[in-house]
Amino acid sequence: MTYGNYVGCMTGTSVDGLDLALIEVSPLNLSKGVEEAIVVLNAQTRPLPEALRDSLLACGQPDQSNVDLLGECDTQLGHFIGTSITDWLKSLGIPAGTIQAIGSHGQTVRHRPPKTLGTAFTLQIGDPNHIAEITGIDTVADFRRRDMAAGGQGAPLAPAFHKVLFGDTAMATCVVNIGGISNISPLNERGGGFDTGPGNCLLDSWFCQHHPNHSESYDASGAWAASGKVHDGLLRRMLEDAYFSKRPPKSTGREYFNMAWLKSHLQALPDNPPAADVQATLSQLTATSLAAAIIDTMPDVRDVPICGGGRGNDHLMRNIQAALNPREQADVRVMPCEAWGFDGDAIEAAAFAWLAYRRVAALKGNQPDVTGAMGERVLGALYPG
Ligand SMILES: Nc1ncnc2c1ncn2[C@@H]1O[C@H](COP(=O)(O)OP(=O)(O)O)[C@@H](O)[C@H]1O
Ligand SMILES: [Mg+2]
Repeated sequence: MTYGNYVGCMTGTSVDGLDLALIEVSPLNLSKGVEEAIVVLNAQTRPLPEALRDSLLACGQPDQSNVDLLGECDTQLGHFIGTSITDWLKSLGIPAGTIQAIGSHGQTVRHRPPKTLGTAFTLQIGDPNHIAEITGIDTVADFRRRDMAAGGQGAPLAPAFHKVLFGDTAMATCVVNIGGISNISPLNERGGGFDTGPGNCLLDSWFCQHHPNHSESYDASGAWAASGKVHDGLLRRMLEDAYFSKRPPKSTGREYFNMAWLKSHLQALPDNPPAADVQATLSQLTATSLAAAIIDTMPDVRDVPICGGGRGNDHLMRNIQAALNPREQADVRVMPCEAWGFDGDAIEAAAFAWLAYRRVAALKGNQPDVTGAMGERVLGALYPG
């Protein structure tokens, strides 16, 4: 009996916190046309200890990482995830024995999809042995590498879950997740889904570089970006990056879209734009590339529910709305996914709870049309509790 309650957890490319979600998986829901029904019962985000966050960010940058740092981060994050889940379940009054399994995505420290640089690999850390040991709960981890072994990108994995969660009632809906990187899940019969490029990652890095002592590590509501002016030359240059015109399947990470990438474009400009103008341009870059990807994939799009932290960036949300409705007709509905009844901070973590269920039930977890893998595969390795 594999139905029941599952915990999912993940730290995304923003490395801002550990997202936890508790879901209930129950049998077939034919009316929604999906194999199982999902309810998100509870969710929480826990901030990462600052030292661990700094180490994880360093681990994610090719020029700052080494094997010792990688090993330490792996253990420390696994420990942090295990204790966080134990504390959280205790606070909810839920006995560990009632959880079927944990799905832990871990932290991506490198994502090198096929045909990019050298040998393809993707690496998520946060040692699942520690999670299983601390919680006593069966833990599933390492979700991406089997797909990559089968020739796929190993990413994104969320589109299949978005389909299960939103159901196929939403025919002209394109679900968007704006984390460090943005990805889209068009919910139509053509399916698909891919990373569109940067979400918040460049906005966060540029903001922190210019506001080192700020209490937040992001431009709250996009207020700073809103104070600047888009630099057309910079925007045009950045949009010419080959990633944006590449056909899917495709996926990317902050080892590509990072400060070095931005600097290379800034240095090529004849002028030196004010910092706030660069932030305004980065916001426009996320919005323009995202909107172009949506329209290209789903020309008849009506509804765009936005998940992930980027939905809290009001300026970015306005830019996305404007990029999808160039003549300001309010045709396309761009709103936080709360408008559809879902907690936008819980969905990615819930996706890995669902993938843990799929692993335990020996069901496929990837979508070859999304990742480009040779076929459907059961994803993840199981660490008994
Ligand atoms: N109120 C807000 N205003 C602007 N940006 C926000 C706000 N809340 C969250 N964010 C952005 O969302 C990011 C976190 O999003 P998240 O979905 O957790 O990404 P990831 O999956 O990469 O961890 C933050 O780093 C920040 O850029
Ligand atoms: Mg996050």
